[in-house]
Amino acid sequence: MTRARSSMTSPSSTPEEDFIFPTGGALGAEVRGVDLSQPLSESEVATIRRALLDHFVLLFPGQRITDEELVRFTSYFGRPVEHVRQQRDRPVKEIFFISNVRENGELIGALGNEEVSFHSDLSYLPQPGTLSLLYAVEVPSSGGDTHWCNCCAAYEALGAAAKDELKGLRALHRHYVDSQNPLEPVTHPVVCTHPDSGRRALYVGPHLTKSIVGMPSTDSDALLQRLYDHLSQPRFIWTHSWCLGDLIMWDNRPTMHRRDAFPDTERRVMKRTQVFNDEVPFE
Ligand code: SIN
Repeated sequence: MTRARSSMTSPSSTPEEDFIFPTGGALGAEVRGVDLSQPLSESEVATIRRALLDHFVLLFPGQRITDEELVRFTSYFGRPVEHVRQQRDRPVKEIFFISNVRENGELIGALGNEEVSFHSDLSYLPQPGTLSLLYAVEVPSSGGDTHWCNCCAAYEALGAAAKDELKGLRALHRHYVDSQNPLEPVTHPVVCTHPDSGRRALYVGPHLTKSIVGMPSTDSDALLQRLYDHLSQPRFIWTHSWCLGDLIMWDNRPTMHRRDAFPDTERRVMKRTQVFNDEVPFE
């Protein structure tokens, strides 16, 4: 790993401080001077893992990597899996396209050019993905920014009474395309504990969470709306405007993300990989 020196570092700084630069926002850090087309050493991977635990979202700018190199980098952090959704023309099965581009009249990827509201990836599965990686191959000149929410900070900012109210509650998560859902309804705790850090996070978002289990629908809707209003406060959000070659890795357990719309006259092509660790979210 080549370490980029910067005016922000001092001679007494640790190696980690030499190349992990916090965004200064609600979450996230930039990892500078790392060439992901090259294999990483165990200590480099350990440093990145530690930074992910601390910052939840890591940006690796300026990458030029092949599909195989993206999958190799993903595999340092768990099992990269074939995405649960089918897509045509995927020579490397672990890579899933997020795109509005059409070829022969057919979309090559998911999500098109529309806004996508806050969610944690694959929360409609009993064992959701843990980490997601997104690599920018083509970006529009405007729009398509992605916003991440620090769901630990949002939980920790709640008062004692609000935390008590959420104890033991579970929420139903469902994909809007019926056929994507498992046969049995999937529920997860409204507050989940991160298995590595022990920190708690709110685990509900308007894109995939449908209701609070066992609550009358008006009460459930009101509680979820209250939580969404709380989570979407600017103090918990960090926004990224993508550049070509950006790779962002994030932990879905302490975060949610949403994406802005962008003009459909422009192309946006992102390659996505996903890590699963067979984890069932727990309170
Ligand atoms: C997603 O919501 O998983 C995709 C985010 C993006 O396209 O920026």
